[in-house]
Amino acid sequence: MIYWANSVYKIKIGNTTVINFFPKGFYKALNVPYHLAKGMSFHFAFAWLFVINGILYVAYTIFSGEWCYLLPNKKSFKEAWQVLLHDLHIRKYEPSQQKYNAAQRIAYSAIIFMGIGSVLSGLAIYKPVQFSWAMFLCGGYEAARVEHFILTIGYVLFFLVHIIQVIKTGWNNFQAMISGIEVIKSKKEIAANEQA
Ligand code: HEM
Repeated sequence: MIYWANSVYKIKIGNTTVINFFPKGFYKALNVPYHLAKGMSFHFAFAWLFVINGILYVAYTIFSGEWCYLLPNKKSFKEAWQVLLHDLHIRKYEPSQQKYNAAQRIAYSAIIFMGIGSVLSGLAIYKPVQFSWAMFLCGGYEAARVEHFILTIGYVLFFLVHIIQVIKTGWNNFQAMISGIEVIKSKKEIAANEQA
């Protein structure tokens, strides 16, 4: 709703537009109304929830000690390639991992910096005079708006790839992600399933 009011971004090669964010059909298909003020109201309500949620999440990972499974280590950047090749079925063996693999560690840490980037660039375009330091960090008003937009596209891509990975690892993993509890079948249940 906000972006539609001034939709300026496209990816171009020479004079040819490769991707236009977003064609009119996109808004029609999603039934998005042309309401800037409504969009801004929704945006600010959810942006502050996003900030509170981010602070709680980071505080939890620090105090629970979970951060040590999440932060990349020296080997992570090399191993992330091996994970990618394995996921693309190019490499047979996956590198050994703890709770999260190297690619997950990098992705789950990068998303925190993306969040900080969204808040900084958001503040820069929200009140460029009062938050001039944020605007300076983002490289100016225009740059801040581009960064704010690119980060949002980044979340959408992150979400899609993540959901595909979750579907690939199965229903049990999905249940565990939502509830925090992993359901493991007892030997009896497995035997009963096999007999049936
Ligand atoms: C507290 C944090 C945030 C503040 C203060 C903020 C502020 C703003 C402002 C003022 C605009 C209007 C820009 C314009 O008129 O061009 C905007 C647009 C937008 N914001 Fe945020 N924002 C914040 C967080 C977020 C987050 C977390 C996301 C995504 C997850 C997001 C996504 C967007 C998008 C997609 C637009 C439309 C982009 C555009 O038209 O350039 N914002 N934001």
